[in-house]
Amino acid sequence: MRLILLGPPGAGKGTQALRLVQRHGIVQLSTGDMLRAAVKAETPIGLKAKDLMASGALVPDEVVVGIISDRLDEPDAANGFILDGFPRTVPQAEALDALLKAKQLKLDAVVELRVNEGALLARVETRVAEMRARGEEPRADDNAEALAKRLAAYRAQTEPLVHYYSDKRKLLTVDGMMTIEEVTKEIDRVLEAIRSADAKKTVAK
Ligand code: AP5
Repeated sequence: MRLILLGPPGAGKGTQALRLVQRHGIVQLSTGDMLRAAVKAETPIGLKAKDLMASGALVPDEVVVGIISDRLDEPDAANGFILDGFPRTVPQAEALDALLKAKQLKLDAVVELRVNEGALLARVETRVAEMRARGEEPRADDNAEALAKRLAAYRAQTEPLVHYYSDKRKLLTVDGMMTIEEVTKEIDRVLEAIRSADAKKTVAK
């Protein structure tokens, strides 16, 4: 299975990706996690990304496309993957199409988590509190100012992907305002629906 999880900051992409990984045995490819690891390790990419990420701006397309291109070449991506936080712009989506085409791979679905913007700050604040309770340093972009910028970037640069994938008949929209468990069940339900539709097509052939 090859999936994309799409949604605004704090929508639950990482939470649901982890649950999908556990149930389907495929890898989570989170550009946010990869970039945070690069920042921590002070690699050249990390040094380039650090201030942009802390401010809530996007990292340049060529940087993240390079990261994903390398990651898709690794053996554990061969069984399927969940892209969490990538693509985030139309040029990134076009680059992904080209990468998959070169590998003769097909994208199964894009799951859009739809969440009211008013709920996002509370979720991010909860994450800050949870990380502090575990003795971890909260994310540099988990504050009201950076969240406003992340949301603005989402609306301007990422939301056009809803139409991009809807035109390609890949988009499945899920209500992200339900509980985590209910969202997981709904994602399973929509994925099962495309699986059985694919199976029927194969039988018809
Ligand atoms: P990234 O790490 O991708 O962050 P994001 O998209 O802003 O998303 P979050 O990780 O904040 O939220 P999420 O949707 O994963 O929610 P989560 O499950 O954690 O990107 C960070 C930065 O990296 C970007 O701003 C950019 O600078 C850079 N970057 C990354 N990818 C890039 C790209 N492709 N191009 C350019 N730049 C890129 O949940 C959040 C909280 O809510 C948690 O506490 C969780 O427990 C809770 N929660 C989850 N679901 C629910 C629910 N249903 N009900 C109640 N609480 C819930």
